Amino acid sequence: MMNTIEVEEQLDLYSDLPDDVVVSVNDCYKIYKAQELEVVALSGVSLQILEGKIMAVVGPSGSGKTTLINTIGGITKATVGKVYWANLRTDITKLSERVLTEARRNFIGFHFQLNNLLPHLNAWQNVELAARIAGVPRAIRKERVDRLIKMVGLEERKRNKATTLSGGEKSRVAIASALVNLIDTEGKGLVLCDEPTGDLDPETGERILDLFQELNETIGTSFFIVTHSQQVASKADVTVEIRDGVISGFHQAGIDLDELDTTRIVRLDDKHRLPMPTDLLDLAGDPREFKITYEDNRFILDPQDTDVIDSMRAKKARICRVCGSEIPGGKFICSNCGSQVTV
Ligand SMILES: Nc1ncnc2c1ncn2[C@@H]1O[C@H](COP(=O)(O)OP(=O)(O)OP(=O)(O)O)[C@@H](O)[C@H]1O
Ligand SMILES: [Mg+2]
Repeated sequence: MMNTIEVEEQLDLYSDLPDDVVVSVNDCYKIYKAQELEVVALSGVSLQILEGKIMAVVGPSGSGKTTLINTIGGITKATVGKVYWANLRTDITKLSERVLTEARRNFIGFHFQLNNLLPHLNAWQNVELAARIAGVPRAIRKERVDRLIKMVGLEERKRNKATTLSGGEKSRVAIASALVNLIDTEGKGLVLCDEPTGDLDPETGERILDLFQELNETIGTSFFIVTHSQQVASKADVTVEIRDGVISGFHQAGIDLDELDTTRIVRLDDKHRLPMPTDLLDLAGDPREFKITYEDNRFILDPQDTDVIDSMRAKKARICRVCGSEIPGGKFICSNCGSQVTV
């Protein structure tokens, strides 16, 4: 059991957090160290997942999406930062694996990037195994697995071995497995999906998404979905853009993944830093410095031609105080009269 005193002390920290927050990530950094090399996979990420909503995450390969999902699920520990789970009402980054495993049970379901079904078991048995691993009590397990199989529309195919299932059907088994412990929770359950429709044809992908939406509406499950798909992003309540481990924008309805700049909202991070969209920077010729002003209710960023550092470095020519000839920048003795420059 968790130390209650510890939890009570933490409670105050989150007393201002609205009730509908399921997970709150605060200024998280994840640094992977491999021998001499350090990779900053997350760099000051903050976001909140709300009850009964679908949040999608898009971003190029290597931008930190899987790292983020694993950090939210407590599989990967953030190097710095906090991850709040509503079921514990506390930051989980300092909790032991044992406590986390227990707490995850009725709170988080994973739908992995690679379908990890056991090939020699049939659809029903795969879900049942997931329920057993997740600690669903024996007495209610069979009934629950039946319910889930029905819910994801696999009644007819439940006795088929995993190897004989189509991609979409396998994905349904994976969804049912992710829900084994969430189906009876009153809201606040969260399913984390890493590219759930990645290898599905658009039509099957659409059906899986409809299923997510249905679960979302009927049992109030929240979804956090890493995706490359326009289809998924357009069904989400909000889509988060991530680039180089930084959240570079939020998008609400009407997102077009080919024209992200039309819907992007940028948000100050916890340190008041604003991410600059790289697509817009490219358009402007990649300026580094801006003059920033606020006029008529608008912030104006004016790219600067000269760089602060370069202009500091530039050496000014001077006039010799003795003979009046010009002494070039960087020289300290007048080449005409030999006087030393004095300031
Ligand atoms: N265990 C690890 N050790 C070292 N570096 C890692 C590890 N896992 C991920 N990385 C690095 O961290 C960065 C983010 O990786 P991550 O897997 O989160 O990206 P991703 O956005 O999920 O990419 P993809 O779309 O290809 O799945 C990458 O540069 C990756 O090489
Ligand atoms: Mg990934």
